[in-house]
Amino acid sequence: FTQDRIRNFSIIAHIDHGKSTLADRLLELTGTIKERADNKQVLDKLVVERERGITVKAQTVSMFFEHYGQRYLLNLIDTPMHKDRNVKLGTRFKGHVDFSYEVSRSLAATQGCLLLVDAAQGVQAQTVANFHLAKKQGLKIIPVLNKIDLHGAEIHRVASEVKSLGMAREPLQISAKTRLNIEQILPAVIEYIPPPTGSRTSPFRSLLFDSWYDKYKGVICLMSIKDGVLRQGDKIQSVHSGQKYDVTELGIMHPEQTPTKQLYAGQVGYVVCSMRSASEAKVGDTFARVGSRVEPLPGFEAAKAMVYAGIFPVDTNDFQKLDESIKKLTLNDSSVSVSKETSTALGQGWRLGFLGTLHMDVFRQRLEQEYEANIIVTQPTVPYKVIRKGGNVKYIRNPIEFPSLDDTSRSVAELQEPMVLATMVFPEEYLGSLMDLCGARRGEQVDYGYLDETRVLMKYRLPLAEVVTDFFDELKSRSSGYATFDYEEDGYQKSDLVKMSVLLNSKPVDALSVILHRSQVEFVGRDWVKRLKNVIQRQLFEIIIQTTVGNKVIARETIPPMRKDVTAKLYGGDVTRKMKLLEKQKAGKKRMKKIGNVELPQSAFYDFMGSK
Ligand code: GTP
Repeated sequence: FTQDRIRNFSIIAHIDHGKSTLADRLLELTGTIKERADNKQVLDKLVVERERGITVKAQTVSMFFEHYGQRYLLNLIDTPMHKDRNVKLGTRFKGHVDFSYEVSRSLAATQGCLLLVDAAQGVQAQTVANFHLAKKQGLKIIPVLNKIDLHGAEIHRVASEVKSLGMAREPLQISAKTRLNIEQILPAVIEYIPPPTGSRTSPFRSLLFDSWYDKYKGVICLMSIKDGVLRQGDKIQSVHSGQKYDVTELGIMHPEQTPTKQLYAGQVGYVVCSMRSASEAKVGDTFARVGSRVEPLPGFEAAKAMVYAGIFPVDTNDFQKLDESIKKLTLNDSSVSVSKETSTALGQGWRLGFLGTLHMDVFRQRLEQEYEANIIVTQPTVPYKVIRKGGNVKYIRNPIEFPSLDDTSRSVAELQEPMVLATMVFPEEYLGSLMDLCGARRGEQVDYGYLDETRVLMKYRLPLAEVVTDFFDELKSRSSGYATFDYEEDGYQKSDLVKMSVLLNSKPVDALSVILHRSQVEFVGRDWVKRLKNVIQRQLFEIIIQTTVGNKVIARETIPPMRKDVTAKLYGGDVTRKMKLLEKQKAGKKRMKKIGNVELPQSAFYDFMGSK
């Protein structure tokens, strides 16, 4: 296939607008898969089969299609968005874009995309965000209205919404479900999206945009070949790490791995190349032949964690097992950053960095469900910036690293927190309530306007820390589920940040300190002492729980002492119950941690983190 017979494209859409269904139709239409009566989605099935493919994995397929007597190679590049179907997450998480960097690298492997919009639901927050991502990269965008078979489809209204985003082209109108007008899609792709540029005779250069771990073959990379040719046996090198690899197998996804002799400039395919760990396959990296000097492709960023949390075993005996489980999970997800952490309160554990809270929740859930891990996850922290008086910048990912009062007055010039630009789309009756919400979360309105007569598109600049907590849930509940939401990073901003500590009988509990904006200290401080009082057992002496900032006490609660006999509160003579309780107490003792003179079982932390 010469380059003018190749098209690389993707489908971008809001969640549930029909991306997988349309992809399946295109695979059927090109004979890549057999037509199926049961409507089951092939792409998702592949994802599940792929060694329990993790959330951020995309599925990419090559298809052959004849148009005016010419054969074309069409590569459909999936954008890794919310492929979390094998992890049973509620729909409340759907539509979060933790993976916008991964999406942008997938888009960088294409020259254009289909922007798919549900003709009944209309343009949603994710549609807007995806549209901007694609536009920023100069891609050709073909708007497509899907689900026009539905009674509720409002083709005219939604077409004008699409136009108001700034898309000149009239949208195609299809039903992926009934196959209506499906045959219009691929000709539009061929005619409207340009073929890849790049030259077969230039030195080899490729973009890595996805990877996964295969039990038998090891790390499998998906690459977009930008220049030159790649063959089996070639020696290639990562431009960013300098690591060298031997290409042992390569080919196209048709729809599964199909080996070929070579991959030419313009093609997209899989490459197996003696990589030992998924962490070596950095999304956005450029590969070149060993010894050849090429310019790295633009846009590379090291996986950037947005949310950090400490993870500790509830039972310290589980440390080894948990260590292995975390290693196994990260084998398939190089975007999780891992370092060891030791806490006086919780013992040995890890500090993990995630792309966002969805990513964190998926990881946690997999640890608990697939590896039956019993873990304590500390309050998540975003990466804050400390700017020293000399201009030196340090990122803090753990409240323990927060500068002390002394240090602050002596040498800290400024504290900064990460910001996001949030896009929300919702019916106008929720405007007041959602503006209140954004205001309460320290947001600043950037833009607001009507998408059509009744729906509002609103943009706010918000601190990331405010978004990673329960913002999404709150947004959904205030809008009866109608508001959609998406965000992108938006730099750092000076902020009045403090570290709040928790003290038990005057001794700080390191694992419970947290970085907050000064305006929240009062509320959180009071809430925490109350909740801690509920999870800490009475002991033989009085326990004073305090939250403090610097030397100032924010809130305080007292747990009065108790008598030693734990069975005293059981009336009557149920002996087995008494025995059980005593045994439980004994087991609990083993895992007790001492904070000063206060004994605290690990499970109290678990209960605290899970309480609201
Ligand atoms: P995620 O992968 O979860 O983001 O969803 P998606 O965008 O891939 O959507 P998917 O293809 O899973 O479709 C979502 C739902 O819409 C499914 O129940 C489909 O059967 C349905 N659907 C897709 N296309 C059409 C259509 O043209 N008409 C109707 N009536 N339903 C459709």
